[in-house]
Amino acid sequence: MKRDVRILLLGEARVGKTSLILSLVGEEFPEEVPARAEEITIPADVTPERVPTHIVDYSEAEQSDEELQAEILKANVVCVVYDVSEEATIEKIRTKWIPLVNGGAESRPRLPIILVGNKSDLRPGSTMETVLPIMSQFPEIETCVECSAKHLRNISELFYYAQKAVLHPTAPLYDPEAKQLRPACAQALTRIFRLSDQDLDQALSDEELNAFQQSCFGHPLAPQALEDVKRVVSKNVAGGVRDDRLTLEGFLFLNTLFIQRGRHETTWTILRRFGYSDTLELTADYLLPPLHVPPGCSTELNHLGYQFVQLVFEKHDQDRDGALSPAELQSLFSVFPTAPWGPELPYTVRTDADRLPLHGYLCQWTLVTYLDVQRCLAHLGYLGYPTLCEQDSQAQAITVTREKRLDQEKGQTQRSVLMCKVVGARGVGKSAFLQAFLGRSLGDARELPEEPPTYAIDTVQVNGQEKYLILCEVGADSLPAASLDAACDVACLMFDSSNPESFSYCASVYKHHYMDGQTPCLFVSSKADLPAGVVSAGQSPAEFCRRHRLPAPALFSCSSLARPSSDIFTRLAAMAAFPHLVHTELRPASFWLRGMLMAVGAAVAAVLSCSLYRVLVKSR
Ligand code: GTP
Ligand code: MG
Repeated sequence: MKRDVRILLLGEARVGKTSLILSLVGEEFPEEVPARAEEITIPADVTPERVPTHIVDYSEAEQSDEELQAEILKANVVCVVYDVSEEATIEKIRTKWIPLVNGGAESRPRLPIILVGNKSDLRPGSTMETVLPIMSQFPEIETCVECSAKHLRNISELFYYAQKAVLHPTAPLYDPEAKQLRPACAQALTRIFRLSDQDLDQALSDEELNAFQQSCFGHPLAPQALEDVKRVVSKNVAGGVRDDRLTLEGFLFLNTLFIQRGRHETTWTILRRFGYSDTLELTADYLLPPLHVPPGCSTELNHLGYQFVQLVFEKHDQDRDGALSPAELQSLFSVFPTAPWGPELPYTVRTDADRLPLHGYLCQWTLVTYLDVQRCLAHLGYLGYPTLCEQDSQAQAITVTREKRLDQEKGQTQRSVLMCKVVGARGVGKSAFLQAFLGRSLGDARELPEEPPTYAIDTVQVNGQEKYLILCEVGADSLPAASLDAACDVACLMFDSSNPESFSYCASVYKHHYMDGQTPCLFVSSKADLPAGVVSAGQSPAEFCRRHRLPAPALFSCSSLARPSSDIFTRLAAMAAFPHLVHTELRPASFWLRGMLMAVGAAVAAVLSCSLYRVLVKSR
């Protein structure tokens, strides 16, 4: 919405432009007026729409044509004034003034125009009959008002209409010739209707209408008003009300009615509340609210965010089977300009055949929030988060985690989303590893697409806590090891156990990126089902790890028909969550193992002292 309004008065000489301005300001009719009134500014708090308003006079006697053109360019709205008692001044509207204002306006939007018939005190009837054809010829004419500077009649109304024409323009909403909503407006209102239709029955119940009213106007409708609305709609549109509920046709009709009755500010309030600009696009302010993410911090959905996206899921899971079918997902996407998630989705999260269960859906949201928070904010915006949750912006659904450096200092993390880079030479089995994370072995019928997805995300239990773990495949196709983006919470360096050369790539990545850093690393020896390749002495991965005080390479295989074991993923997540414990070999099994060893140790000591005693006895 515009932050201030500039109103320019034009028209033939002596029609009363200066008198109108001075009558408004002085609240009495000035008998003597100068040729041109000074520009005046009405402060925001005394205007009905609460925006500062400038009123600018024009005088042919005092201003050149160039000055006039310059004023037209600066104006937001033009009042073309005519004298109701002088037919000739009406004719000039069509032949002179409108062409002057909007004639060369191909390159910029047409200025809205208000026709002002002054000196209504001099004529008993109305000029409507003469003016209506002009109004239908020029769609930029917002309205027409007859007034009298002398009798102070309709003066403040005229300036109010002018102000409204700028702040709540009709042109983007309504096509006066076709007498219907413009397509972009109908489309925006349709999206708003879908977002407000909580139970997806294609109609708004009283409850849904009230929630809608509340989020747009800050208060519910009175019960009587609800009934009146439905009565008017059902009288005018067949199918506008079904089973006592307002249908989309009814909702669109209602907005058409607001506009036709000059109440388009009502429709604008609805549109703006759902994020639309004057050109009926979602504004950048709405889609991308400011959110500060300092370097080293990550972004996660907080409980408000998860609560909202889960409600959206439940709304669209029409058959209540806990998963979204392709059709249900399509209906969820219908409020987005283009589908937010692409065909890689089934390779990125766990799915159930072609349906997306809640778990996979939440994983996908988590992934987008982590990788591209701006995109996540926009997606929440398309879903109407700020309006439906009555919050300032989608930023309230996001947690920005503390800097990773602080996590490392404190030896623990509050993050619930952890990032693991899976690095390795070509063909070592990185994509298969990502798919194994989603519970799919090589034996699964599902073929990977030609461009395998870069990410896989699932939840993993770490010390009794649920964490999201993202695996990100970092290919080595054309990159030298030194130029990788290696930042992450844990690195999984993968080599092919049957191909010793693939290990040297991993070793090089390790030396370039991780050796001197704090990121925990795990070497993973893939294809463990195949016979191991022969390595020359002193070059074995196991030795390399020992020398660098790294955990021994973990064996991994996903070739069997059975579901791949999830141990390795749990281990990676634990390393990411507790980086300082890596060298003590934190593994689910290691706790009881260590306990066992201690018990065994005590037994060994007992045996030892016993035999020692024997030795001592013997030697005596
Ligand atoms: P220019 O500056 O020459 O372009 O004229 P203007 O459009 O500013 O007209 P102005 O306000 O100077 O008024 C012209 C004459 O019309 C003056 O004598 C006013 O007193 C008279 N006049 C203005 N408004 C009214 C009105 O509402 N009723 C009547 N009866 N006379 C009016
Ligand atoms: Mg004047």
